[in-house]
Amino acid sequence: MALFYKELGIDLGTVNTVIAEGGQIVLSEPTTVVIDSDAQKVVEVGEEARHMYGRVPEGYEVVHPLQDGAIADFEVAQVLMTWFLRKVCGSITPFKPRAMVTVPYGITSVERRAASEAVLRAGCREVFLIQRTLAAAIGAGLPISTPSGNMVAYLGGGVAESSVITMNGPVVANTIRGGGRRLDETIVAYIRRKYGVVISEMAAEDIKLRIGAAIPVEPNESLEVQGRDQVNNLPRTITVTSADIVEALEEPLAEIVGCVRYTLERTPPELTSDIIDRGIMLAGGGALLRGIDRYLTNATGVPAYLAEEPVACLALGAELALHQMEQFRRYLPQG
Ligand SMILES: Nc1ncnc2c1ncn2[C@@H]1O[C@H](COP(=O)(O)OP(=O)(O)OP(=O)(O)O)[C@@H](O)[C@H]1O
Ligand SMILES: [Mg+2]
Repeated sequence: MALFYKELGIDLGTVNTVIAEGGQIVLSEPTTVVIDSDAQKVVEVGEEARHMYGRVPEGYEVVHPLQDGAIADFEVAQVLMTWFLRKVCGSITPFKPRAMVTVPYGITSVERRAASEAVLRAGCREVFLIQRTLAAAIGAGLPISTPSGNMVAYLGGGVAESSVITMNGPVVANTIRGGGRRLDETIVAYIRRKYGVVISEMAAEDIKLRIGAAIPVEPNESLEVQGRDQVNNLPRTITVTSADIVEALEEPLAEIVGCVRYTLERTPPELTSDIIDRGIMLAGGGALLRGIDRYLTNATGVPAYLAEEPVACLALGAELALHQMEQFRRYLPQG
């Protein structure tokens, strides 16, 4: 059976979608779609669609079908999944795949249903859901099947989550909406306030990726950034530094600390000592922000460290969970 039926781990994220099959990543693309609104049809999906952001003529629309980790535009999400599944499985598959799809903790039952329906209608035979932090823990090979405390902080594009897992299930979990996207928004606001220049969220993300950090870096790096002067609306170039970004990110990072602390504070003392010994594993694209491990270590008093594959481990873990359904079934959220 397994020879014919594909088994997929699908990490359907606000910013990126990653699909694993056979223990490998077989697709990794932005969760972005370009639509021709006049003709009511999809023009591009994924990487190509992302490149078109801010560069499309009138009548076209760049759509992010997910928001804060949940599907906000069902039809577009379904089209996106159909494209991605076709890429992974080929156009004609008599044997529809089974899939395990990651979802955040904090979403509603309606949002969970949308996630599983979108993947089903895109051409899967059977769909299960798994929480992002559990998928990350499985993918990273944490010893979660033992009666020990394992803590994961997931910093995604649309959500930040933290949870403590023992014996294959979560004990405590917490989530906040607005992950990496929120960091980009605060960079936009900071640059407008400090330099009087307006930049796009995409430009802000680019700055974050190139010179961003959670704690001061030595030497302080700088980057020339083009924006629009807030007063006369003309193009203007400014120089932004790493120190600027550290300052800009103070507030959203403090919210992430709050999310992690909430979980730590509610963890049973029997498990806390394991967590102090083993540390907090960081996953998700946001874990790649320079210095975030040290920042969280300082802010929580518990050592935080990066997962080996912070982004890929979710899709890989989702696929693994599909192969080990009996262990995880009772902890999987209903779609
Ligand atoms: N080197 C980096 N430094 C800082 N942030 C980064 C870096 N690389 C990626 N990111 C951020 O990670 C986020 C994307 O992470 P990821 O792909 O894990 O999110 P997602 O799965 O799409 O979202 P979610 O699971 O929250 O719905 C983006 O906000 C991106 O800017
Ligand atoms: Mg993801």
